[in-house]
Order: sequence, then C-alpha cells, then structure tokens
Amino acid sequence: MSEPRLESFRAPIGTHDVLAPESGRWVAIVAAFAERAGRFGYGLAITPIFEHREVFQRVGEETDVVRKEMYELTDKGGRTIALRPEGTAPVVRAYVQHRPTPPWKAWYVAPNFRYERPQKGRYRQHWQLGAEVLGVDDPDVDVEIIELAHGFFASLGLGQVRLLVNSMGDDVSRPRYESALRSYLREHAGSLGAEFTERSEANPLRVLDSKHPDWQDVIERAPQLTEYLSDDSREHFERVQQGLDALGLRYELAPRLVRGFDYYTRTVFEFQSDALDAAQNALGGGGRYDKLAEEMGGPPTPGIGFGIGIERVLIACDAEGAVPAPVARVDAFVVNAAGGASATRVLAELRESGLSADRAYGGRSVKAQWKAADRSGARYGVMLGAAELERNVVGVKDLQTGEQIDVPRDAVAAWITTRLEEDRA
Ligand code: HAM
Repeated sequence: MSEPRLESFRAPIGTHDVLAPESGRWVAIVAAFAERAGRFGYGLAITPIFEHREVFQRVGEETDVVRKEMYELTDKGGRTIALRPEGTAPVVRAYVQHRPTPPWKAWYVAPNFRYERPQKGRYRQHWQLGAEVLGVDDPDVDVEIIELAHGFFASLGLGQVRLLVNSMGDDVSRPRYESALRSYLREHAGSLGAEFTERSEANPLRVLDSKHPDWQDVIERAPQLTEYLSDDSREHFERVQQGLDALGLRYELAPRLVRGFDYYTRTVFEFQSDALDAAQNALGGGGRYDKLAEEMGGPPTPGIGFGIGIERVLIACDAEGAVPAPVARVDAFVVNAAGGASATRVLAELRESGLSADRAYGGRSVKAQWKAADRSGARYGVMLGAAELERNVVGVKDLQTGEQIDVPRDAVAAWITTRLEEDRA
C-alpha cells in the first residue's frame, strides 16, 4: 500500500466539518424547521443518500446538475448509482414505491452532492431542508408550501429575503414557448459564440437565468413564459397570486425565473437574500413537478415542494446578525475531592434530573478540577469532600459570587434546579 498523503486526512475539497459551537446553530435551524413543518402537517421522510442513477437521470433530463455535476459510481455489484444531487426525485421515488394516501406531505433534512467549483456558498456537499406535497394540484397547496418556507425565514429573524414567483406553464404552453424562444435565440446566436448557441439548442430556458454579462441584452428582450401560458396555467398562477395576497406575503413576479431542473411545471419560486453576493443569493427555491411521478412509472400525481440550503441560510444569518451560535450551558460541575464512586453517582443524578452537568477526568488535583469548573462556564460547583460526605452533604459553590454552602446530598439536584428557576424568573 502506498504511503498516505497528508491531504488525505483533510475534509475533501468543497466539503466541511460542522463542530460545536457552530453546530448548535444547525440544531436550532433544523429544530425550527421540523417544528414548523409539523405544525403544517408534514411528516419526516428519510431516503437513502444514493439512488439508482435513473431516479435523477430520466429521459430528456438535460440540466447541468444532472448532466455534469452528479457523483456517479459503479458499486461492487456493477450497478450505476448516484449520490443524491437534490431531494425531490428521491421523495417522489419513495412515493411511487410506497403509494401513501394522497395528499402526502413530507419534509426532509439531508446532504446533497454536486461536483461544482467550490466557492463561498457553493459546495460539493451541501445540506437542504425541504418539503414536498404529492397528490394535489390545488393552487392553495402552492400557497401553503410558499408560506411554509416564507415564515421559516421570518422565524429565524431574516428580514432581507425576497420572494420571486413565476409560472413555467404546462405541457401545452411550454413547448410553444420553447420553440418561440429558440427561434428568438437563434437570431442572436451569430454574435454570441459557441456556448450560447449550444445552450440555446440544448435547453433554451437555461439561457434565461444565465448571469453571463454578454448575454444580458438578448435575455432582457426575450419573449416571456407568462405570455404563452395556457388558460389553465394562467388561471392556476393567478389563484396562487391571490392566495399570497390574501396572506399578505410580498412577492415579485419574475418572468425569467426558470430554476435548474427540467421537472418543473407551472408555479416556480425562489427566495433570494439581499444580504448575499448575487452569484449565490438563492436561499431556497422550488416549484411544481406535475409529471415527475409518472416519469418514474407511478400514477399521474401532481407535486410541489422546495429546498432550502442550510449553509446559505447560515451565511445570510451571519450577514443579518440572526441565529447566534448558542453558548454551551453547564449548570453544575462536580469536583471530586473524596475519590471513589460518589462523584459518579451525584453527576448521574444531576443529569437525570434534567440539569446539564460535567466533571473533570483523569484523577486531577482538586485545584485543577476547580479550574476546569471555571473554564466550563458552570453556574455551580458541586464539591464532594470526605468530611462533607460523612455528614451526608455536598458543598455547592455559586461560581459567580464565590459563595459556598452545604446542601443535603439527596437534595442537591432539586436545590440547584430551584435556584436556576429563581434566576430565570
Ligand atoms: P435547488 O435550487 O437546486 O433546488 O437547491 C435548493 C437550494 O439549495 C438552493 O437555493 C441553495 O440554497 C442550496 N444549494 C444548491 N446547490 C448548492 C451548493 N452547491 N452549495 C450550497 N448550497 C446549495 C433543488 O434542489 C430542488 N430539489 C428544490 C425543490 C424541491 N423543488 C421542488 N421541490
């Protein structure tokens, strides 16, 4: 075996470790989302991080995420599998496989893998919070799903978030629009180079959300999706807007918002943060995918959902001063001056009673243990000395004031709990 290189023992490029206290923010964010999704009637769905490639690479799927960025591998059984680049296709695959009774409302938190060029806010492994609803095409569900995401940002204290909405049309209007757009783009292809021509032919919609500076003039003047909507799609889109208005949710109509997957139909939306660089300002986005279940061999089943990038949300929180990393809280620190197992028992009792409690290890001196107690930021030190134990008491020291008193050994957890409650009152 060759010598391991030092770089082998670093997280792969485009990935990152999340450690305490930063990980405390992840706990807070995921808990806030889980609580909100639960209130809206969504249940947690956990799917594998890898799937058969076909779950993502269906016939006609032409997007960069699937074509160029997907991590594909052949397993030892010779199967071609893909690390999940996004969360929607696996949830729809699970729906088609298990056929839960519609409407089926699911939420998830999961890592996704995309072989992208890493930069701030763009990683090869990123995490998403998401929600999907299968089996209903009522525009009220579009409104609900948008409201679920919108209120989540607000609950974190993020104020600089803009909601953009558009309609991609349906299988009547979309091909009409694509052919009009392709002819329009062809007229300009000559002056804009090979990449433009290639993209216009392969997937003209994806030209629309390009940030390429030389293309912007042509993009600005391109025909718009909403001009081509069928009556059904137009009515659906109007009802979504009326629902958002009824809730007082502010949104902008964004006729060039097309999003990065081919499965979208009708409503699409994105949440952008004005606190982030324009290149990575999408905190989350989603839309309808009314044909996706059928493409996977399921019955015709409309669907809608969104994904929110946790790392991006945290960058936005940094920029806006929201969701600070929680300070580790230790209620009590046990100092063992008596030796033996009584410290172990007292510590266990404190923890089982609901207090956060810690200790030093490795037979350190009493002085070193008190130092560790100070460093831990604990509110109380609990001293077990031979003399105290003989009298069936422990010494409890208020580490803010330095005051120490004896408390009956059996009452120490209750005593500290009461003091902490009084502090909070
Ligand atoms: P997406 O727009 O590709 O949609 O990703 C959702 C969010 O994930 C983005 O808005 C962004 O915040 C974050 N994100 C995406 N790629 C990266 C990356 N490389 N590094 C960091 N963050 C990233 C979807 O994935 C769809 N499945 C959303 C959906 C759900 N549509 C319907 N249902």
